Amino acid sequence: MGRAFVYVVLGGGVAAGYAALEFARRGGYSRGELCIISEEAVAPYERPALSKGYLLPEDPSRLPKFHTCVGANDELLTTKWYKEQGIELVLGTRVISADVRRKTLLTATGETISYKTLIIATGARALKLEEFGISGSDAANICYLRNLEDADKLVNAMSSCSGGNAVVIGGGYIGMECAAALVTNKIKVTMVFPEKHCMGRLFTEKIAEYYESYYTLKGVTFTKGTVLTSFEKDSTGKVTSVILKDGNHLPADMVVVGIGIRANTSLFEGQLLMEKGGIKVNGQMQTSDSSVYAVGDVAAFPIKLFDGDIRRLEHVDSARRTARHAVAAILEPSKSRDVDYLPFFYSRVFTLSWQFYGDNVGEVIHYGDFTSNSPRFGAYWVSKGQITGAFLEGGDRDDYEALSVVVWRKTKVSDMSELERQGLAFAIQE
Ligand code: FDA
Ligand code: NAD
Repeated sequence: MGRAFVYVVLGGGVAAGYAALEFARRGGYSRGELCIISEEAVAPYERPALSKGYLLPEDPSRLPKFHTCVGANDELLTTKWYKEQGIELVLGTRVISADVRRKTLLTATGETISYKTLIIATGARALKLEEFGISGSDAANICYLRNLEDADKLVNAMSSCSGGNAVVIGGGYIGMECAAALVTNKIKVTMVFPEKHCMGRLFTEKIAEYYESYYTLKGVTFTKGTVLTSFEKDSTGKVTSVILKDGNHLPADMVVVGIGIRANTSLFEGQLLMEKGGIKVNGQMQTSDSSVYAVGDVAAFPIKLFDGDIRRLEHVDSARRTARHAVAAILEPSKSRDVDYLPFFYSRVFTLSWQFYGDNVGEVIHYGDFTSNSPRFGAYWVSKGQITGAFLEGGDRDDYEALSVVVWRKTKVSDMSELERQGLAFAIQE
């Protein structure tokens, strides 16, 4: 049993949706030549909605409202749209092996799908506690959050937990966004993570302190510098408490785990070059095999702004852009320049909202008002006399645009105390 396509996108997440959009915009394929294969049962959607609108107690967001590419104010790519565009959606289908030399993929149902050009957009999977030696995380009231199925489990757990206690394991993006959602659903939250402060990969201690104080006022308790060792369960197998390394027991009606991800590279290990935990690509998003491209969370690509340093980014803007870049490079190779990307991350929790551009390396200076409930504060990272990164909470569109420009231009800083004094004005007047 087999089918042959010219172009195959493997994976049906954010990057796949934006790849489809770019194919449709450019044309260059005929009906039946392009397919998306996805383990998920639905057409690509904007994954960030799962920890935001999807978890709201009132009028939560549901599909088809957040299919790609609504996040970029583009078209809403529903199943009907794919049909109209002649793009085949092969949904609910897991690819279990790939043969790059033969240009074939084998699905769990035993079908062989061949391609001329493959775009790998397999994203990442949530790390499981079992991988850290802790067992029992398959309990009915322990939730991870990567896909729609996980989000539904989380919504169900929250609905039977109102007024109860949740323990959130991990102080990264999932931990912070889910803790906010749980509180909004009237659930008391304790966050547990090993670092000294939340969002350790990005936030400075001072920035983290603001969010932790804000969360504390909302009723969140922080248990930092420790990890869990096991769970206590009732006779039905439901978790009733989380046991920490220091011996403390935290009562839990539900648990949310966000302890990082691993890129889904396994189908291609030993066949394509890997780097930074992902599939290594060049500036055209092309892997070490010229017929295979990789985009989104799974791709490790050169960042010109960082002197060509290879990075694997785990953020939606990068997934969107790398996907579109790969399609442009495939369809019009002679016109395609190397990707030139400014890393951009953001988050929204409660009424707060921040954005970050660039790289958080070098010396940091902070500015603005860290005390208000409607804050406007930020930080610059400066290395070798140039701005390398910029963070801002509570900015408007023009503020963020100004920050992105100073990072993009690697604006020179001659006097750190003057930068600190000027704060946001430094970027705006540049
Ligand atoms: P993505 O994970 O979206 O898609 C991968 C697809 O491949 C999935 O459909 C999967 O099923 C499929 N697949 C994998 N292996 C397969 C196989 N063997 N066979 C078939 N299909 C296979 N970022 C940000 O910048 N701002 C934000 O606010 C958020 N918020 C956010 C919330 C939540 C809950 C999550 C989980 C993540 C975010 N992110 C984010 C991160 C962002 O969503 C992420 O960077 C993109 O989804 C990456 O897009 P990809 O298409 O690369 O992977
Ligand atoms: P993360 O890397 O942001 O954070 C992982 C956290 O896990 C760490 O901060 C640490 O506190 C904790 N941790 C690690 N090992 C632990 C252990 N053994 N016990 C307890 N805690 C432990 O990953 P995440 O929060 O799981 O997010 C998953 C993915 O989703 C990431 O790729 C992230 O970029 C993406 N995401 C992004 C956004 C956004 O950009 N706004 C929002 C949600 C999710």
